[in-house]
Amino acid sequence: PDNGLVRTPPMGWNSWNKFAGKITDADVRSMADAMVSSGMSKLGYVYINIDDTWELGRDASGNITTNNKFPDMKALADYVHSKGLKIGIYSSPGPKTCAGYEGSFAHEEKDAKTYAAWGIDYLKYDLCSAGDIYPSSEANQRGLYQKMGDALEHTGRPIVFSLCQYGQNAPWKWGAKVSGNLWRTTGDISDNWKSMDTIGFSQLAIASYTRPGHWNDPDMLEVGNGGMTADEYRTHMSLWSLLSAPLIAGNDLRTMTDETTSILMNQEVIAIDQDPAAKPTQELTKDGSVEILWRTMQDGSIIVGFFNRGDQATDAGVQWSALPGGIAGKKLKARDLWKHEAVPTTGDRFNANVPAHGVVLLRISGR
Ligand code: DGJ
Repeated sequence: PDNGLVRTPPMGWNSWNKFAGKITDADVRSMADAMVSSGMSKLGYVYINIDDTWELGRDASGNITTNNKFPDMKALADYVHSKGLKIGIYSSPGPKTCAGYEGSFAHEEKDAKTYAAWGIDYLKYDLCSAGDIYPSSEANQRGLYQKMGDALEHTGRPIVFSLCQYGQNAPWKWGAKVSGNLWRTTGDISDNWKSMDTIGFSQLAIASYTRPGHWNDPDMLEVGNGGMTADEYRTHMSLWSLLSAPLIAGNDLRTMTDETTSILMNQEVIAIDQDPAAKPTQELTKDGSVEILWRTMQDGSIIVGFFNRGDQATDAGVQWSALPGGIAGKKLKARDLWKHEAVPTTGDRFNANVPAHGVVLLRISGR
């Protein structure tokens, strides 16, 4: 059954990429504060998601308990809600989470009830030790996820269900059937070009499986974590938006540089990600080291991205008359979504110099 949530890809923040096991209640509160004061929440970033390492064990009645980094989950959820935001939590279908904390195995109904009682709005459910107990067949994994999907549904509270089993057994084919709103498609991202580039471009082959309420998840953003150049982070944000990927920031929102905010808060790029039509992105052509991708938007305009995957700046372009999406031949209007300026459409060709690992992103409409 479809829970009706996340008709556009979820946007928010998650603790793992920056904090891993060091996340605390106080950090989560200040991250919620920063989400609002930075202006990000107004752009759609509303989920504040706690990842692994909040769990302690079980009380005498089998209820999940929190460790001393999270003294009162209900109070924390109330705080996050008081800011107009939503709160997410994390667990595993196995007895242990990936970091070795208490998982939900054989306690699915109880845990779902506890999350609902705390006021949780989003659950990331990470395969971890369940993969050691059960051979990782599609049937086993569907069973594990369905159990929690059902349990969440039984609570009556709308809770986004995020499947995390690293793309095993092609979850894009069955994730929605086990009540998943999103499913990871690959192993973990790390904060470097090779990881982001490999994950990002591997998604084109499965782009057509993503749709309102049910999204491919190529993992969370690394923008602002320091391991990539600004050009690489602009590529990261552009590619994830073209792919209708969840935009879950993974940096410290309290200490962002202007460059980081200009990337995470580029409204013209976010609009691609959040386009209600959620059309798949496709390859148009390759031009040397430049991969040219495109997709259609709900209003009939198209996005064209010139992604330079090489480590030298290079020129790239396209004939206006060779544009896809039924707009060639019309009188065109084009805009550069990173420079935030109009691009002249006179002449027969668009040409640009694309920095190493960088992107030029255009929105083009026919009048
Ligand atoms: C593996 C997941 O893929 C990561 O995103 C993170 O949730 C860790 N597990 C936490 O242990």
